[in-house]
Amino acid sequence: MKNRLYIQINFILLLVIAFSSCEKDVGPIRIRPLVPYDSTIYRISFSNYIQPIFNENCIGCHNATHPFLNLHASVSFDELLYTGDKAPYIDSIEPENSLLIQRLRGVEWPIMPPNPPHVSEANIDSIKLWMMQGCYYN
Ligand code: HEC
Repeated sequence: MKNRLYIQINFILLLVIAFSSCEKDVGPIRIRPLVPYDSTIYRISFSNYIQPIFNENCIGCHNATHPFLNLHASVSFDELLYTGDKAPYIDSIEPENSLLIQRLRGVEWPIMPPNPPHVSEANIDSIKLWMMQGCYYN
């Protein structure tokens, strides 16, 4: 069962890569590649998998009082894509280049969250997959 899920996820990644080659270049940071919406493929759910990562690790600081980026559930999606100080913080084609992943890894200083424990590899992978699938608000 688990193996089947991995095969399915690999297949989706392949599909994303195949379709992203027809994507129109809109600048250095690209959001939402033209992957046709298909309700039958497995999609990482923003509210079930991504927002909980922010709830657990970020919103103590990244709330309405933060000057740049509010990651509270009511606004986090809009903040990351459109309204945050340096939005977009995401990159669908090269997630490692996104400001969000670079902060989680500490490539962009300082690492987020500033104090351990930091976000696990598995959770960083989920965020990357969510980006590569087109950053859906689902
Ligand atoms: C202890 C408080 C604290 C926690 C917890 C924290 N941050 Fe931050 N974060 C900050 C502060 C303060 C800044 C602004 C200063 C800076 O850029 O380093 C910041 C900046 C950022 C920025 C850059 C914003 C910009 O527009 O320049 C990102 C992206 C970010 N944090 C993501 C996160 C994520 C994702 C988490 C959770 C996984 C997180 N942070 C957890 C305090 C925190």
